Parts: sequence; C-alpha cells; structure tokens
Amino acid sequence: MKYVLGIDLGTSGTKTVLFDQNGRAAASCTVEYPLYQPHNGWAEQDPMDWYNAAVTTIKAVLEKSGVDKRDVVSLGISGQMHGLVMLDKDGQVLRRSIIWCDQRTAKECEEIHEKVGRARLIEITANPALTGFTLSKLVWVRNNEPEIYARCRHILLPKDFVRYMLTGDYATEISDASGMQMVDVPKRVWSEELFRTLGLEMDWLAKIYESPEVTGHISAEAAAKTGLSEDTLVVGGAADNMAAAVGTGVVEDGRAFATIGTSGVVYAHTSQLAIDPHGRVHTFCGPVPGSWIVLGCTQAAGLSLKWFRDNFCAAEKEAAPLMNADPYDLMNREAAQSPIGSNKLLYAPYLMGERTPHLDADCRGMFFGLSAMHTRRDLLRAVMEGVTFSLADALNVLREMGVNPSSMLACGGGGRSPLWRQMLADVFNCPVATTVNTEGPALGVAILAGVGAGLYSSVPDACRQMIQVNPAQAPIAENVPAYARVYEVYRQLYPANREVFKALAAL
Ligand code: XUL
Repeated sequence: MKYVLGIDLGTSGTKTVLFDQNGRAAASCTVEYPLYQPHNGWAEQDPMDWYNAAVTTIKAVLEKSGVDKRDVVSLGISGQMHGLVMLDKDGQVLRRSIIWCDQRTAKECEEIHEKVGRARLIEITANPALTGFTLSKLVWVRNNEPEIYARCRHILLPKDFVRYMLTGDYATEISDASGMQMVDVPKRVWSEELFRTLGLEMDWLAKIYESPEVTGHISAEAAAKTGLSEDTLVVGGAADNMAAAVGTGVVEDGRAFATIGTSGVVYAHTSQLAIDPHGRVHTFCGPVPGSWIVLGCTQAAGLSLKWFRDNFCAAEKEAAPLMNADPYDLMNREAAQSPIGSNKLLYAPYLMGERTPHLDADCRGMFFGLSAMHTRRDLLRAVMEGVTFSLADALNVLREMGVNPSSMLACGGGGRSPLWRQMLADVFNCPVATTVNTEGPALGVAILAGVGAGLYSSVPDACRQMIQVNPAQAPIAENVPAYARVYEVYRQLYPANREVFKALAAL
C-alpha cells in the first residue's frame, strides 16, 4: 500500500494527516500556534511556528501509523492564503508574517489603485486592491519598514515557506499565488506589468507550478528532522480553500461549498473565467489545471463564535470535558433554543473588517437590537445567523455573476454543526450536504500529491474515486421565508453604519 501526506497549515494550527492511496486516514495530528494582534486590525504569525508544527505533526503521524517512510510517496501542503513571508539572501525570516486577516494596508491599497488604475488591476489580478492580499502588505513594508524591505530577497506564501524549509526550493503553485494579487489571473503567470508599474522586484518571486505538479523532494536535513524519506515528492499543493475544494470534490462546474473555519467562504468551481467588475468576490486560479474559482469571504466566521466562546462561555468550556463533549456542542444546544431571528437580535460579523461584499477594513462587528429580554442563547444564535447571512451575501454575488451552483457542501468546524448546516440550507434555499471524509484541505492536498506521484490520473478522477457525499439537509419550507425577512433587515445594517464605522476607526 502507498501513502500520501496532507499538511494543512491553518490560522489556529497545522493539521497533518497520513492517507492510504484509497483516501483512508491512517493517522492525524494537530499542533496549534499563536496569532499576534499587536494593534486593532493587525494579525501576524511566526513562520517558524508553522515549520515547527509541520515537523512535529509529520513525525507524529509517521510514528502513530507505523507506516514505513519509503511507502510515503508524496506530500502536499495546503495553506492559509495571502500571508507575506519575507526572507533575506540566506533564506532567513526577516519579520513575522503579516497574515490574511490583517487590515493595516488601507493606504497602500489606495496607492496601488492610483498607480495601476482600479479597473486595470481588476483586469490583471481579477480583484481590486485589498488589505488582506499580499501585494498591499509588501508595499506596506516598503513604506513603513524600509530597513527590512532593503534586506529582502525572497517573498513566499505561508505554505511555500514550509515547502522551502522541507525541500530548499523557492516554489509556489498557481491557486495560492493568484491570491497574492501579483499574478495575471487570466494568463496564470506573474504580472510583469504590475511589478514594473509599482517598482517591485520580480526576482523575489518563486517559480509557479500547477497544483498537482511535483516541485521537488524532501531535503536531507528535513528528512532527518521529520522521519520522512528524501525520496518523498512534494507537489505544488493548494491554497486552503482550493485544497478544501479538492477534498470535497468541488472540481467540476455546478459544484460549490460553504466553509465555516476561522474565516467563512462560499466557493464555486468554474471552467470559464468569471470576474465581478465590482470586485465584491474574488476570482482565483483553480487547483484543477486550467480552471478558475470564484470565492466570497467573510473575515470572521468561525472566529466570531470562537470569540464568543472565549469571552462569554467559560461555563461551557468547563462543563464540556466533564460531559465528554465539545464546548461548541453545548453552545449549539443553547442557540437552538432561541427562535429564527434570535428574538429580533442581529449580529454583523465584522470583527476583522469585511471583504465580501463590502470590502471595508474599517467596519467592525456589532449586535443590533439588544433588549433586556435577551439572554446569552439569543446572542449565540444571532452570531451563527449573522455569519450565515454574510455567507448568503457572497452566494448572491456569485449568482449575479451567473455562477449558480446546483449543489452545496458544508465544511470547516462550523459545517459540523447540524444547526448551522440547517441555517445554511434555509438561508441559501438549497440543499446542503457534507462529505463522509471530513479531512477537507488535508485530503485535498493528499489527492494532489497522489496525482503528482502518478497514483491517480487526474484531480477530478481521483475525487470521483475517493469522495463520498452524505445525504443532504434540505431547506425547511416554513423557515425559508422566516429567515428571508430577517436577512432583509440584516442587509440594511452595513449601509446604515458605513460612515459611523469610519468615524469610530478615526477616533
Ligand atoms: C480567502 C482567505 C481565507 C484564508 C483563511 O481569500 O483569505 O479563507 O485563506 O485561511
């Protein structure tokens, strides 16, 4: 039996899973690491934490499974998107990585729009300048930390830094690279025009591969550290969302998924390039060679519930282990006791500003309509509903663009909650299913690794062979109009507060 390894470099931790060639998990291990928020709206992580987590988890799954390292033919890495890792001429990390949810670069986005032109930028990169994306982060470092910028010789995405540490290769792949806002998305190459216009260095960039292509193999040093063989191949891998798509079989037209992880995403595969001229959702290159994907992102989806858990659910956190349960299960049970609309309480999930559909780094979260009759369970339900409404905003833009998925899968931590899945089905007014295998991104990159090593003939073929879908949860007829009425009020919250958010940010 041959094995493939999937490493999923997330925001809260890295999860590594060893799969056999039929997609069965042989062992899994997760290691968490900190997120640094030195200022309101800033978010950084230490790239060495990611690498150390990869080493620890690879070692652990090899030991746990007892699989012979020579049978691990290949590995793939899935990564949180858009983060900026800067290395000096010796490949040493120059500063903490500024990650995807960091919002410090509003001025740099204006600068990029001024120099390139907003419409031209959307034509090239399929997106307007965004605070979350790597390009504005690089310009921020140039403007604010010139001494670090002067020493920089390589820029990498989070997962590509881990690849570099495991193989010694400066390489990336197209799905994640297209989230840097440096790629000509229709042509799938780095945009020379953009680098010239902005005066940036093209030789800092890594070579781009397609997601299932082999980029190298494990170095002697990394083999000694991890217990892997030097013969283990490393493939391009994919951005976390694209890896999740492969891991759930969303690799053909008409397929889509909604994920509730730290961020929330609505994602659809498309074999035809589709770009929203208003830039409300993102178009990126897909993990199936030659394809694209359209994605809407809620910055703080699972993060909203985690924030609520960490600040207001000490009792659940204490009780859960005694009941052999997860605090989120207990929180779900409480939320289920509040009715649709949370007794006229709304929550806007803008804890980290918002992307889809508002593209506003200054907006912030809020509960709206608080009354003395509300209890914590109403607040809990309002958080889950607010995140769901925000995902519906994304799906509605996709539908407007003519990308109209016929099926929807739910994944991420939030997708495991039957209550949240029912909300998605009712608010989207479409059936929502889950996959039997819930390893999502880790399985996705393991599949890409298997394709790269020649175990499967293509990404869609491998997915057809390996991914099974559970029966879908259908929308409940009377819930659909009930949620629609609440959603109509929710949609008015952002425009009514746009200027107030700006005033608050300016304090
Ligand atoms: C997508 C995005 C997030 C991160 C989270 O554009 O920024 O989904 O990839 O890890």
